Amino acid sequence: MKILCGTSSQHLGNDLAIKLNIECVQANVRRFPDHECYVRIEREGLDKEVVIVQNTYPDNNIIELLFLIDAARSLGAEKVTCVIPYFGYSRQDKRFNPGEALSAQVMLKHLEMDTDRIITIDLHKPEILNWVKRIPAKDLHSEPAIGRFFMDSDVDLVLAPDKGADKRAEEVGLLIGVEFDHLVKTRLSGSEVKITPSQIDAKNKNVLIVDDIISTGGTIIAATNELKRLGAKNVFAACTHGLFIGGALEKLKMTCDRVVSTNTLESEVSKISVAEEIAKVL
Ligand code: R5P
Repeated sequence: MKILCGTSSQHLGNDLAIKLNIECVQANVRRFPDHECYVRIEREGLDKEVVIVQNTYPDNNIIELLFLIDAARSLGAEKVTCVIPYFGYSRQDKRFNPGEALSAQVMLKHLEMDTDRIITIDLHKPEILNWVKRIPAKDLHSEPAIGRFFMDSDVDLVLAPDKGADKRAEEVGLLIGVEFDHLVKTRLSGSEVKITPSQIDAKNKNVLIVDDIISTGGTIIAATNELKRLGAKNVFAACTHGLFIGGALEKLKMTCDRVVSTNTLESEVSKISVAEEIAKVL
């Protein structure tokens, strides 16, 4: 088996290869002057089994993934597993209005055509993988990796920003061996959320907020402000996918005592590797 690492997932792909003690192959990926993508794997051949690690976000990474699959096939790959650490378009998981594209389904339908297995991490709604009929598809979880990372960090309480994410807080809390709970969030707009004043006892505690995605940072900032109002000593934020749109990371650094994400999306704070979770499944 070989790992074939796309440009979006260099850290995770290499870490995965180290964990599995196999080679991580780098393709030559370039952009033409008109920005069209060029992919070549500069080798005579590949193993029969190839694991491609590449995000489908932003859009240019989708085409790179499709070309990596084709290039691997051309060199003899018979079983291609696509590990998609951050599955772009997963949030458009239904037609909210008539006439809308069902983006998540479109993505899966096209990927399934030339892939033998799909692995994702912390999909917003893992049920979307039920649309994949012909090949195995599995969503993995980052909670064990987040739990390991914060094991010795004096966390007293783990919180989810809303009820929908309380399983996440529960799992991390149980791993660290501390209490867990959730806040109550109302979304006011794309970037604004309201965290309802809560009864949670945060006084003098080190609180860890865990979420699947940090996008604009609005959720974590509102939750942190509420927790500080309740007397929390330190507020740490951890997410699986750190999108950090529109200067979110700078704003978060001014509000939280620590911000960290997994390496499904690479950034200066993607310190938690999910390679072990993927390696176990492979
Ligand atoms: C929402 O359901 C997600 O779990 C996240 O809470 C949300 O995507 C975070 O977005 P933002 O950082 O823009 O508040």
